[in-house]
Amino acid sequence: MRKITIAIDGYSSTGKSTVAKQLADWLEYVYVDSGAMYRAVTLFAMRNGYISETSFDKKKLIEALADISLEFKKNETGKAEIYLNGENIEKQIRTMEVSELVSPVATVPEVRRKLVKLQHTMGEGKGVVMDGRDIGTVVFPNAELKIFMNATAGERAQRRYKELVGRGDTVTYEEVLENVTERDHMDTTRDDSPLVKAKDAIEIDNSEMNLEDQFHIILQLAKDRIAGRI
Ligand code: DC
Repeated sequence: MRKITIAIDGYSSTGKSTVAKQLADWLEYVYVDSGAMYRAVTLFAMRNGYISETSFDKKKLIEALADISLEFKKNETGKAEIYLNGENIEKQIRTMEVSELVSPVATVPEVRRKLVKLQHTMGEGKGVVMDGRDIGTVVFPNAELKIFMNATAGERAQRRYKELVGRGDTVTYEEVLENVTERDHMDTTRDDSPLVKAKDAIEIDNSEMNLEDQFHIILQLAKDRIAGRI
């Protein structure tokens, strides 16, 4: 069967990575979580004191980019986890602190250039599902299937809040909603590779959809595209 490239873009907490992982498992494709890569660079910048709630030394971060090495490795359950210079940082990148600082880091063109280059390497040879903000527009503009995911901000914040609380984080729903709305704003208004729906992307609003229905709709689209039916 021919292998295709699947780009899944959309707003934060729309469940892109959940469906991207399900698809990659089902199709036996490589899954790449590009947001994890921006989060990893953010964690690196935080640890080195280049960014905090009150300051951002872009120049220092740009100078240090060559010191960042990122890779995904599968854990014992088969889930891909991200490594920063050999250290597994999968858990550390999912905190509210990182979520609050990642959008400014993602505005830096040098950061984007480095990560897009890596993403190209990871997607070489097709058979890849990649999720993010600019996958169908910038990273793989020729992807055979492009999905643009959306849901109301309230629904997305509710999902994210449940996930964080379930993990033992102490956050309020209001804080999460504010973060979701702020990131939407920064991600859609930045100059370099803003979040926009690619012209040929299929939009899916999953505010009222359960995970199973969503998976089946997108899987059907993928099967149709692979078989050349659509
Ligand atoms: O998908 P996520 O919420 O883990 O992504 C975190 C941030 O990274 C998001 O707010 C914007 C940025 N990002 C990006 O600019 N481009 C991508 N392809 C993926 C993520």
